[in-house]
Amino acid sequence: MIRKEIFMTSLELHLPKEIINVIESRKKRVHSDQDQRLIGQGGFLSDDPVILYDALVALALGKNVLLKGPTGAGKTKLAETLSSFFSQPMHSINCSVDLDAEALLGYKTIVNSSNQTAIEFVEGPVIQAMKKGHFLYIDEINMAKPETLPILNGVLDYRRRITNPFTQEVVAAKEGFGVIAAINEGYVGTVPLNEALKNRFVVIDVPYVQNEKLKQVLTEQSSLKDEKLIEKFLTLSSDIITQVKIGKVSEEAASIRALIDACDLSVYLPPLRAIERAIAAKLDDELEKRAIMNIAETVFE
Ligand SMILES: Nc1ncnc2c1ncn2[C@@H]1O[C@H](COP(=O)(O)OP(=O)(O)O)[C@@H](O)[C@H]1O
Ligand SMILES: [Mg+2]
Repeated sequence: MIRKEIFMTSLELHLPKEIINVIESRKKRVHSDQDQRLIGQGGFLSDDPVILYDALVALALGKNVLLKGPTGAGKTKLAETLSSFFSQPMHSINCSVDLDAEALLGYKTIVNSSNQTAIEFVEGPVIQAMKKGHFLYIDEINMAKPETLPILNGVLDYRRRITNPFTQEVVAAKEGFGVIAAINEGYVGTVPLNEALKNRFVVIDVPYVQNEKLKQVLTEQSSLKDEKLIEKFLTLSSDIITQVKIGKVSEEAASIRALIDACDLSVYLPPLRAIERAIAAKLDDELEKRAIMNIAETVFE
């Protein structure tokens, strides 16, 4: 079922033959049960087919892809969809200020077996993805401390290799290895991404999905089945996006994640209360909260 869906999408995308060949050969690879579970589910939808097309082409060419967009725009969903397209397992890293070399590369540990003690190295996501030729997903890459990520420079450029500082092992990436990162620029707690690092990526903007495709996302992913209500949530979303564009409310107010939450809640709560809880109450600014609730009152009156 899923395979058929993907096949149809790749035809609809009119991908070049060479790219389809790369994808098909990746799909033929056999993975262990454990790795199989790291293959994404797919399901990213977009008003603009170019987003998926360009990301697939870039990855097939061995480029690193940086997904840039506001929170809840489907960046992680897109990364999972790319993994599912190539049928390639994806190892994930969630960046935070605490992210260190060990979280990326792995760590040493002491193992006891039959009265013998030995030191073993547990491979982290970067090393695993490189050795197995899998994808590596670096989420919220600009949440990491700027000094942590340069260890990945060699991994991200044409060298595709790293000397593991914990084991001195030189690790070269296996064919198929690819890096997808996500960034939410300007968000609280983030730092501007280092230029040398950004330079190593192909950048793909991921805006909030709208209209018919958004309707499909809400229909498929929320438990709200009342079509009239779904239509109202679509209007709410497009009205919020208009307010975002004129700078009246912050971008995260239009998050698709929050919108799905509001739809889910509205199965059991009056829509206005659902919107208050899922969207408005998250905003720090009183005026912005009021703006959202005004839109909601107009749409749902
Ligand atoms: N374009 C989209 N296509 C499909 N699902 C989407 C899309 N945008 C958002 N979603 C859904 O909204 C939620 C948040 O998406 P996610 O990928 O976690 O966003 P991000 O990583 O950009 O913060 C998920 O449930 C996801 O399935
Ligand atoms: Mg995400």
